[in-house]
Amino acid sequence: MVMLRKSLGTSLLGILATGCILLMALSVQRGAAVPINTHCRLNKTDFEPYIANRTYMLANKASLGDDNTDVRLIGKNLSHDVHVSKHCYLMKQVLNFTLEEVLLPWSDRFQPYMKDVVPFMAKLNNKLKQCNIQSGHQNIQRKVQKLKDTVEKLGESGKIKVVGELYLLFQGLKDTCA
Ligand SMILES: *[C@@H]1O[C@H](CO)[C@@H](O)[C@H](O)[C@H]1NC(C)=O
Ligand SMILES: *[C@@H]1O[C@H](CO)[C@@H](O)[C@H](O)[C@H]1NC(C)=O
Ligand SMILES: *[C@@H]1O[C@H](CO)[C@@H](O)[C@H](O)[C@H]1NC(C)=O
Ligand SMILES: *[C@@H]1O[C@H](CO)[C@@H](O)[C@H](O)[C@H]1NC(C)=O
Repeated sequence: MVMLRKSLGTSLLGILATGCILLMALSVQRGAAVPINTHCRLNKTDFEPYIANRTYMLANKASLGDDNTDVRLIGKNLSHDVHVSKHCYLMKQVLNFTLEEVLLPWSDRFQPYMKDVVPFMAKLNNKLKQCNIQSGHQNIQRKVQKLKDTVEKLGESGKIKVVGELYLLFQGLKDTCA
């Protein structure tokens, strides 16, 4: 049991480490002057510490049930070859999928965290409703579709993985849209 906990704990660290690399890559690229679609915009104040904590706790709880460390949904590969000006749009598409396929159907699971995180994510999704891009939909659609296919193929454990990576989505939205 102790061994089990230990390896599962390591798995969340792995997820977060991968995420940090992704986010570092994103913020380095952000240095370049790129016009950002005004609708692809969130306010930093949307990401307050309380909801950050709830999202983290939720992801942590779910990742205890995720022992598949080979598959990463939100990682370097997701934003690889997507222009930095489109990263927020990409994250928005992942958010939309996450809400529709996992969070809303599972809104009664992983309490007490889910009851705070679902409305929060729904609010962000709503704020990004007008967020669009002028070109390159297809490439992004392909990537999001691949993510959906992976989740579907894994079934229940794919959905658990989505919840386990929610904090990466949170950070990704914050870093690319706010
Ligand atoms: C963000 O929200 C704060 C508080 O609601 C507001 O004062 C600020 O103007 C907003 N910033 C942007 C960029 O919308
Ligand atoms: C989140 O909040 C709980 C209590 O509400 C606290 O025990 C925990 O340490 C916090 N976690 C983080 C990562 O801030
Ligand atoms: C990363 O993406 C590339 C191209 O989209 C794909 O060929 C490769 O298999 C992906 N790697 C992983 C680990 O998913
Ligand atoms: C996801 O996006 C589709 C198409 O833009 C939209 O019809 C749907 O309402 C969105 N889902 C959620 C949960 O907002």
